[in-house]
Amino acid sequence: MVVPESQDKMYYPPDDLQRDAHVPDLNSYLAQYRKSLENPEAFWKEVASEFFWKKPATGPMLQYNFDVTKGNIYVKFMEGAKTNICYNVLDRHVREKDLYEKVAYYWEGNSPDHHVTITYRQLLSQVCRCANVLKRMGVKKGDRVSIYLPMIPELVYTMLACARIGAVHSIVFAGFSSDSLCERIIDAQSSVLVTADGVYRGEKLINLKLIVDEALEKCREKASSSINKCLVVRHHLRTKSGTASNKLQTPWDSDCDVWWDEAMKDAPEECEPEWMDAEDPLFILYTSGSTGKPKGVLHSVAGYLLYTALTFKCVFDHRHDDVYWCTADIGWITGHSYITYGPLANGATSVLFEGIPIHPHVGRFWEIIQKYRVTKFYTAPTAIRLLMKYGREPLQKYDLSSLRILGTVGEPINPEAWQWYHEAVGQGRCPIVDTFWQTETGGHVLTPLPAATPLKPGSATFPFFGVEPSVLNEHGEELEGEAEGYLVFRRPWPGLMRTVYRDQERFENTYFKKFPGFYVTGDGCRRDKDGYYWITGRIDDMINVSGHLMSTAEVEAALTQHPAVAESAVVSRPHKVKGECLYCFVTLKDGMEFSHALVQGLKTLVREKIGPITTPDFIQNAPALPKTRSGKIMRRILRQIARNENDLGDLSTLADPKVVEVLFSQRCEAA
Ligand code: PRX
Repeated sequence: MVVPESQDKMYYPPDDLQRDAHVPDLNSYLAQYRKSLENPEAFWKEVASEFFWKKPATGPMLQYNFDVTKGNIYVKFMEGAKTNICYNVLDRHVREKDLYEKVAYYWEGNSPDHHVTITYRQLLSQVCRCANVLKRMGVKKGDRVSIYLPMIPELVYTMLACARIGAVHSIVFAGFSSDSLCERIIDAQSSVLVTADGVYRGEKLINLKLIVDEALEKCREKASSSINKCLVVRHHLRTKSGTASNKLQTPWDSDCDVWWDEAMKDAPEECEPEWMDAEDPLFILYTSGSTGKPKGVLHSVAGYLLYTALTFKCVFDHRHDDVYWCTADIGWITGHSYITYGPLANGATSVLFEGIPIHPHVGRFWEIIQKYRVTKFYTAPTAIRLLMKYGREPLQKYDLSSLRILGTVGEPINPEAWQWYHEAVGQGRCPIVDTFWQTETGGHVLTPLPAATPLKPGSATFPFFGVEPSVLNEHGEELEGEAEGYLVFRRPWPGLMRTVYRDQERFENTYFKKFPGFYVTGDGCRRDKDGYYWITGRIDDMINVSGHLMSTAEVEAALTQHPAVAESAVVSRPHKVKGECLYCFVTLKDGMEFSHALVQGLKTLVREKIGPITTPDFIQNAPALPKTRSGKIMRRILRQIARNENDLGDLSTLADPKVVEVLFSQRCEAA
């Protein structure tokens, strides 16, 4: 990369941040970056030296094959080493460093009246007790544990307890439906499920245990029930204010269900960690796949530890007295890497927030920043756009002077939202780290470093240490200099996924087949003349709604389960707050009538089948879909109709071009 005499407006790091930053300026970034590529062995050895190894690595730090033509794809990091990630993020601080009474989390509930402070010592004690409970339930090294919990401390306790005893956690975002949960339990073949009775999201009470029971029933119907025990946190019961309107029925099966508090009561506070091989699996996290079936992305112990720890330290320029807040849910990768593992590996103090940005008022985020004196704040463009709608007034009521660095993740940030974040939230003095990464990458791969990187709004700027991006054209040729094409990586970094759980073939086909020798992200990108990377969005059939990736196939499969629907096609349409939203075309079976009630019914169906985040915004009647002569739906045309783009280009490959006119005339203007 060259450093820029750019025509774009640049934002330079503030002097005070540069003074004693981990990566204090651009030259230092460039030198370390070069070292990480030229001598990865030395680079990662130095990073690893900060952590505890029961046994050192016996082989090279990083071994891999990225080329399908040369055999199986694999990535191995620190082979031969033994460690435990839970020991490294907790015991190491409590025993070896002096973080005994340091706050690990300020937990802030959905209601501002509910909050708890958890120190590192308390966290370790709860994690060990939970680990003993899981062991008592028969969980052993290598077993899978599914977790369906809201953003409460027990979620962190459980994931770290699994890591401590070598069990593989599979967290399912607690906004997913019973069908989605069932599918993920079956794929992971988990023996234990951890959940809660219920939770408030804003004003809405969600009966999680009921959803769990439906999911388990569905597993049984498919003759695939692997769950022996269900551990249930009494969360709603402990936080409810006791009015008649918030009563919750918690269905109970005494053969299987166990209350968390009863199980924890007599569980010992000591639990020897299981010493794991560096490449043993740490967790599975499901992400949408373009075929509709979610992929179980598998991450392993040592590489993930080092990568999340180092990215957290550098990207947020972590200081001992920081109060860091990432607003993501731990049900997504952002929460795994940058609420749990990365911050704890650095001995950080974080806010753990259960609620939503606009409850009980639209200034909730700003209120929390003031309350805990948050210094580093990490959120998603969709949240910024949502809060922008309410103007600057809600911000002006709070003192945001503690903020030093702002971050975004999940989707490209539009310039308007970037400016607002920078001016209104950061008061013009906080750099914004626009971090590009994926469930698969484990941690940030393209990102600014706050004291080193001059920013261009909307660009994720440069690669992190150890990451070597490239831009390819359709023929797989590497493009030099200014270019636009497929974003790929030519070598692994320690935090990259290791496989798709129980489906190595899918792993290779999805990420490595298209361009042998490269990991293919599925995103398009542009590299400008200064070497800055700009993500242009997905190039596969995936849609990014509010920072959540979903496949069109998955939504189509849900729609076609409706008895009135013969066929469906789902495309994206730009949305002011969500970035993109779902625009669905449905062809009805003969004799069925398109009506408002049907539209509502279809929206409910998709919510129920997948989850509320996938609720379609638009459903259009499509007497027929535009297809090629070979019967392939031409999604490009549907996307243009959804976006009201009149110039439809070449329609000659369509079997029946008249279909398009009809669809255009009936398009939905408003949701
Ligand atoms: O399309 C990119 C987009 O989100 C996708 C990854 O989604 P997921 O695995 O759910 O992980 C999201 C949180 C890491 C990417 O392929 N994406 C993520 N971050 C950015 C982004 N697009 C543009 N800019 C970003 N900063």
